[in-house]
Amino acid sequence: MSTRNLRVDGDRLWASLMEMARIGATEKGGVCRVALTDLDRQGRDLFRRWCEEAGCTVRVDPMGNMFARRPGRDPSRDPVGTGSHLDSQPTGGKFDGVYGVLAGLEVVRTLNDRGIETEAPVELCVWTNEEGARFPPAMVGSGVFAGVFSLDYGHSRADHDGKTQGEELARIGYLGDAPLGHAFGAYFEAHIEQGPILENAGKTIGIVTGAQGTRWYDVILTGAESHAGPTPMELRRDAMAGAGEILAALYRIALDRPPHGRATVGEFRLHPGSRNTVPGRIEFSVDLRHPDGPTLESMDADLKALVARVAAARGLEHEVVDIWLSPPVAFDAGCVDAVRKGAAALGHEAMEVVSGAGHDSVYLSRVAPTGMVFIPCEGGISHNEVENATPADVTAGCDVLLHAMLDRAGVVA
Ligand code: GLV
Ligand code: MN
Ligand code: MN
Repeated sequence: MSTRNLRVDGDRLWASLMEMARIGATEKGGVCRVALTDLDRQGRDLFRRWCEEAGCTVRVDPMGNMFARRPGRDPSRDPVGTGSHLDSQPTGGKFDGVYGVLAGLEVVRTLNDRGIETEAPVELCVWTNEEGARFPPAMVGSGVFAGVFSLDYGHSRADHDGKTQGEELARIGYLGDAPLGHAFGAYFEAHIEQGPILENAGKTIGIVTGAQGTRWYDVILTGAESHAGPTPMELRRDAMAGAGEILAALYRIALDRPPHGRATVGEFRLHPGSRNTVPGRIEFSVDLRHPDGPTLESMDADLKALVARVAAARGLEHEVVDIWLSPPVAFDAGCVDAVRKGAAALGHEAMEVVSGAGHDSVYLSRVAPTGMVFIPCEGGISHNEVENATPADVTAGCDVLLHAMLDRAGVVA
């Protein structure tokens, strides 16, 4: 059967996205569906029901990753996978992650509507805790699947209240028993770009050639609590004064490596948090990114030297805890080409891009030929409740995903 003119049902995909967005909906129009909360469970349950209604068999592995399989003609072939994540940032949007999951579901629904049989099975994936917002690091579910992290490591990651991922997976009923790790013939992920490149260039499709590298840290500065009034400035060991000096210089680590260097401090905790006590302890997160591996390593060295220098000058103890390193990756040339061909066949304006964000595909690419499809998001804004994408772009990205997957899975004549 010719699938050349095959298109997904964009209205149905949009309706599913909006229905899923009601789970954890925020007043400002975004979504708060943080990993392994009751809302995450509700999102997973809805996805499972939709997959079963579409005739898929759903399995869950011990890291809570979900796999919904549509059989192919040849059961001996490894499946062509697709998916993303259903967890969100605390103030997240309606598209980050969930778009890739529901685009995969729309591919399966479209194949069902047309009675199309693929040679290889097709498998929809939901990866646990991609965001890393509650349990750092990011991409833990796909990382355990790909053997980057052990299952013990995944289960033992804890949130600020000391609750672990293993406990929370069991609590929400997603500590599964499917075998951990299996092969894919190819893997594709559709995602909003989360940056401004496609919109500024007037393109509909991003052919993602790889992803930049990321390093996460916790910086801990320890001084001494003392009274805000009687303690002379020169006698203080003020953790806040040290943090201020570090922050003033930290952004230069990225700014001095234009245009790709990135530095973000997104979490900040000070103790004891009393207005008339000199803070004795500060903890803050640092996220450094660059597409070039050696440059990212030089940023790492600069951060560690900066913290050591300021701490020594101010009589503070310091720790820079390495939380996560995700090196830059290049995706599989064949999968990148399948995305390129799909966009061209459908007549979409497309360009090659390197992902600025981390994605489960980064870890999938260690165990399977992998590619990604990006679509623009309004103003390039993501990790924000106003995150938005147009129905036309959402549909176009899903059409390209469909064609890339069929290219790899093969269609029974
Ligand atoms: C994932 O959202 C990331 O931090 O890039
Ligand atoms: Mn995402
Ligand atoms: Mn995200």
